[in-house]
Amino acid sequence: MSQHFAPIGPLRGELILSGDKSISHRAVLFAAMAEGSSELSGVLDSADVRSSISVVESLGATVNLGRDTVGGLSGQVTGWGSLGPDVPQTELDCGNSGTTARLMLGILAGWPLRATLTGDDSLSRRPMDRVTEPLKEMGAAFECDEGGSLPVTVSGAKLAAIEYVSPVASAQVKTAVLLAGLTAEGMTKVREPAASRDHTEQMLPAFGIAVHRDQGDLSAAVDGPAVLSPTSLSVPGDPSSAAFIAIAALLIPESEVHLTGVSLNATRTGFLQVLKRMGANIDIEVTSGDTGEPVGDITVRHTPTLRATVVQPSEIPSLIDEVPILALAAAHADGETQFDGISELRVKESDRLAAIVEGFDELGVVASTDGERLSVTGTGGWESATLRSRGDHRLAMTWAVAGLTSTDGVEVIGFDAVDVSYPSFLSDLRNLTS
Ligand code: S3P
Repeated sequence: MSQHFAPIGPLRGELILSGDKSISHRAVLFAAMAEGSSELSGVLDSADVRSSISVVESLGATVNLGRDTVGGLSGQVTGWGSLGPDVPQTELDCGNSGTTARLMLGILAGWPLRATLTGDDSLSRRPMDRVTEPLKEMGAAFECDEGGSLPVTVSGAKLAAIEYVSPVASAQVKTAVLLAGLTAEGMTKVREPAASRDHTEQMLPAFGIAVHRDQGDLSAAVDGPAVLSPTSLSVPGDPSSAAFIAIAALLIPESEVHLTGVSLNATRTGFLQVLKRMGANIDIEVTSGDTGEPVGDITVRHTPTLRATVVQPSEIPSLIDEVPILALAAAHADGETQFDGISELRVKESDRLAAIVEGFDELGVVASTDGERLSVTGTGGWESATLRSRGDHRLAMTWAVAGLTSTDGVEVIGFDAVDVSYPSFLSDLRNLTS
């Protein structure tokens, strides 16, 4: 499906963001692992989260979630608890969702069953060995192609606890190993080279699992074996989705939007710090979450002049999914912006580095990459273009915002990829312009 995005009037008003994707996956998966029924609300209703839901249903969890009044999913998930997951009768289709695939590998690794995980073309190109390698060290066995990609068949086993020093700052790797550790005897610990998002560490205690964290060596550890207890939790709004609306509002004259109920977890909000450094008119207010996830409101006003900045490697994990839309903001800024240490973008839902450079070339924006650094020189604007989403939801929305801030509009081919993380993107935009 292709969709045309032409310049629109100011974005004005209040928006309640749909549920955070990372937190929604964890809420569904952890509730499926728990002994009893958990009560969830605000779960994102998107293709990715539906992949997690259907996978845990195939493994014996009972999911009773329905649409609530604000468009999220609310209801109960009853988990398999100490009995463990059922032996699945079919392959487990993870769709486009890397989080479903990688976290499930960790969840299944410690149970006596064989299961095959599959995914769509994009997910089948993404590396799974970053998760299967530490899980093999713990004792699980995997069958897959040489490149370590899906389909992967996991044969679960009695696992040994490990101390794993991860070569990548990846919340998916960290979470997979910690979840596997819950079936092992003793302390399983993961150390990271930089702090990745910490929703797992924030959420596991609500399910009765203590997480031992050390900010000094960036480690998190759990003591196994342990079974999760059911809980009740509400998923806050998604800062990664908020980023697209926030940057559109910064760039469209006379805009002022209030984004409410958004997760303001510091491991996710690096994009707000970078935008502030660029001179963006943004106010952030934490309204709740004394324990666990901080939640609050973001107010964004049109900012006529943005300045270039340098984004350091240590900042990248906190804005990893926002690089495409931040690069678009940089294309409107004064000077050359650099993003350093961004090789992980090559293995996201698409090769986002190549896609940004290709799309910017079409728009007439000067951008280059050597694989570790992306440089973008602000041009201030462009006329029109036809751009491909490459089946990648975050590119679909980045190119949509490129159209909203063009003079003659942008055609986005494959815009329907947006359903992966932000199905209400178009209706939210419409509501802010009416
Ligand atoms: C996610 C972690 C990140 C992020 C992805 C969601 C998660 O991936 O890019 O969109 O929910 O844990 P990595 O763990 O590969 O960095």
